[in-house]
Amino acid sequence: MTSTRESTTVELRPFGDDDVAPAGLLLAARHRAHVRSQPLLAASGTAGVSDADPTAGVTEASRAAAHVAELWTAAGVNGWAAEGGDGLCGYLIGMPRRGAAWGPNMWVEAAGHAVTSTDLVAPLYARASESWVADGIVAHYAVVPAHDRTVLDEWAALGFGGQHVHGIRSVDPGLDPVPASGVEVRRARSDDADALAELDLVPAEHQSRSPVFSAAPVPDRAELRAEWATGWADERYPTFVAVRDGVVVGATTCCLLVESSMHLGPARPDGAAFLGFAAVLPAHRGHGVARSLIAAVLDWSRRQGCSSLVIDWRSTNRESSRTWRALGFSETFRRLHRHVAY
Ligand SMILES: CC(C)(COP(=O)(O)OP(=O)(O)OC[C@H]1O[C@@H](n2cnc3c(N)ncnc32)[C@H](O)[C@@H]1OP(=O)(O)O)[C@@H](O)C(=O)NCCC(=O)NCCS
Repeated sequence: MTSTRESTTVELRPFGDDDVAPAGLLLAARHRAHVRSQPLLAASGTAGVSDADPTAGVTEASRAAAHVAELWTAAGVNGWAAEGGDGLCGYLIGMPRRGAAWGPNMWVEAAGHAVTSTDLVAPLYARASESWVADGIVAHYAVVPAHDRTVLDEWAALGFGGQHVHGIRSVDPGLDPVPASGVEVRRARSDDADALAELDLVPAEHQSRSPVFSAAPVPDRAELRAEWATGWADERYPTFVAVRDGVVVGATTCCLLVESSMHLGPARPDGAAFLGFAAVLPAHRGHGVARSLIAAVLDWSRRQGCSSLVIDWRSTNRESSRTWRALGFSETFRRLHRHVAY
């Protein structure tokens, strides 16, 4: 199929193995623009690269091509390419994720799309989604740079809404939030298992309600208790608890970002830590408990040699949106979602 855009003719065709390297160049250019708006993402392969440098982009392009190649070898993947007079000018690759909670799905990951012109987003998605929907794949996800409002608008016009936000902040000690007085933060101990099981229920119960309406099942308390009987001591996923007046009222778990299965490709800067879980009992919110827990996680992150801390949250979780922004996280990517239904 061909389409005419002003004076340029663009051919849309299925993505193939030979497109991986040129797609890497497009992705590297997109990521370079992203880094200009969010320098903490530079550690994913573009640090110090200047557009004027004739050798610019060799490392970043090969790294970006590696991200595309990784996607392109995933099971069940397919994609479309847009070719203009100067070669590849856009691509879109979908990859299915396992897990009943996602529905019959295709994901356009952070490395799964890049265009030289925003008016290529719609035709690429139109061709790719044709076969997805014909095969009953009606839950579509796209991880899109948060700084590019024009591209976000293109996805919104295609029926995609905000579902999830990725955020990042520096671990520079000069920017640390000040812990609240009256809140003691310490590493979890074996006798915290009951309190941790109770706190582990908090996000699931909170997000099962309006306006999040998460479909994720609320876990069973006894199973959580059994997990926390040993989980409190896991060094890969260290847990901190917050104590007020002698009672554990909040908890958080962190790790290195490489442990996360959700932050992939350009959404995974080197040297990043990840905050994977945080909860405060309802009666103790608004007293700086999360602020105190984050201060401890930032300190742990620095000790691991990390330069940034990454987090993600549901767009519809208003407490999360307010808290993480107030605690210095800025948006890097938005996960958009479209359910083709009615
Ligand atoms: C999100 C959550 C952990 C915040 O915990 P918290 O102890 O109440 O947060 P803090 O009191 O430390 O607030 C930190 C900052 O966030 C902002 N904030 C937090 N809750 C807010 C609210 N409801 N309205 C406005 N601002 C809010 C404040 O600006 C605050 O800054 P300040 O301390 O300088 O005033 C808590 O609401 C919670 O457990 N929610 C349910 C579970 C959940 O959603 N977990 C996160 C999943 S990603």
